Amino acid sequence: MTKTKIGLGLAALGRPDYINIRQHNNIDKSKTAFKNTAFEVMDFAYKNGVRYFDTAPSYGLGEQFLLDWKNDRQHKDVLLSTKWGYTYVANWEIGYDGKHEIKEHSLSKLNEQWEISKALLPELNIYQVHSATLDSGILNDKSIHERLFQLKKEFRLQIGISTSGSNQSEILNIANEIQVHNEVLFDSYQVTYNIFEQSTFETLQNLQVLGKTIIIKEALANGRVFTNNNSKKQLETLAKKYNVGIDAIALRFVIDTLQPNFMLSGASNTTHLSQNLKALDFKLSTEDLDYLKFLKVDTIDYWNERSDLVWN
Ligand SMILES: NC(=O)c1ccc[n+]([C@@H]2O[C@H](COP(=O)([O-])OP(=O)(O)OC[C@H]3O[C@@H](n4cnc5c(N)ncnc54)[C@H](OP(=O)(O)O)[C@@H]3O)[C@@H](O)[C@H]2O)c1
Repeated sequence: MTKTKIGLGLAALGRPDYINIRQHNNIDKSKTAFKNTAFEVMDFAYKNGVRYFDTAPSYGLGEQFLLDWKNDRQHKDVLLSTKWGYTYVANWEIGYDGKHEIKEHSLSKLNEQWEISKALLPELNIYQVHSATLDSGILNDKSIHERLFQLKKEFRLQIGISTSGSNQSEILNIANEIQVHNEVLFDSYQVTYNIFEQSTFETLQNLQVLGKTIIIKEALANGRVFTNNNSKKQLETLAKKYNVGIDAIALRFVIDTLQPNFMLSGASNTTHLSQNLKALDFKLSTEDLDYLKFLKVDTIDYWNERSDLVWN
């Protein structure tokens, strides 16, 4: 048994192009087809025990799909999170040749996106700064902290941040010191942690001791667990041993080392989601965990490779 719950992230379900290691060129990329698939995957997730769903305004129509699904299905026991700070600008253009999302951590962007995202209430439970960085301004803008604090109190939200990049731990530690009216602002952290990128391990453990909600994203390293030549053979051996896929081995590594509150699956279809969910059904031996810990790579190298991944 584990306290970790698997959540479903809508990053790949809400827009036609996203980071994909595997080729998705043969799927219908119309908005209607995406909405149908998103509903199918969310229904499958719910049927199989998933109650946590994560989205963002920059996931194309991901936030709208989640809202439509929530309003239509009327499940009362779901827990939703969204973010603010990135705007989707690719306008559903397949193969859009530019940045698909633009970051802006300003008070006006927060207010603008909140006006839309608040429709996810009352199931909206965690409201997150999307990808806080040292230079995005969010960590020292007191007007934003004050506004987030107001939202936290008025709507009983957990206020969170998500992090990416080689200095995640530094950002987490700075964020955790931020107070408004003598109260710590952030309750929740959505962080990248996986077999290759383990640099946040101790920081996350410290945050867990403080009672923070820990959500792990990119637990499959955006699909690189399937393609990494250095680890492929060994991961395949473990997959065979536990009678699951490589994805379940990588996901179980996160559970068995860290026991986060939530771990996001980024699956874009029900087959992958059902394979991801197998991570809940077994436990890695200490010996196998020790072996997987050795797969970690240099953090800078990890994030350089991440920024080279192609959106398709
Ligand atoms: N806050 C942030 O800045 C941020 C950044 C990234 C992600 N996130 C959140 O975290 C969630 C998960 O992240 P992610 O999707 O980027 O990364 P991920 O979970 O590390 O990787 C997902 C990739 O793995 C593939 N995959 C999953 N199961 C598979 C299987 N059984 N066989 C083959 N391929 C499989 C997926 O392919 P398919 O698409 O074909 O299923 C997809 O390409 C997102 O949806 C989002 O909610 C947040």
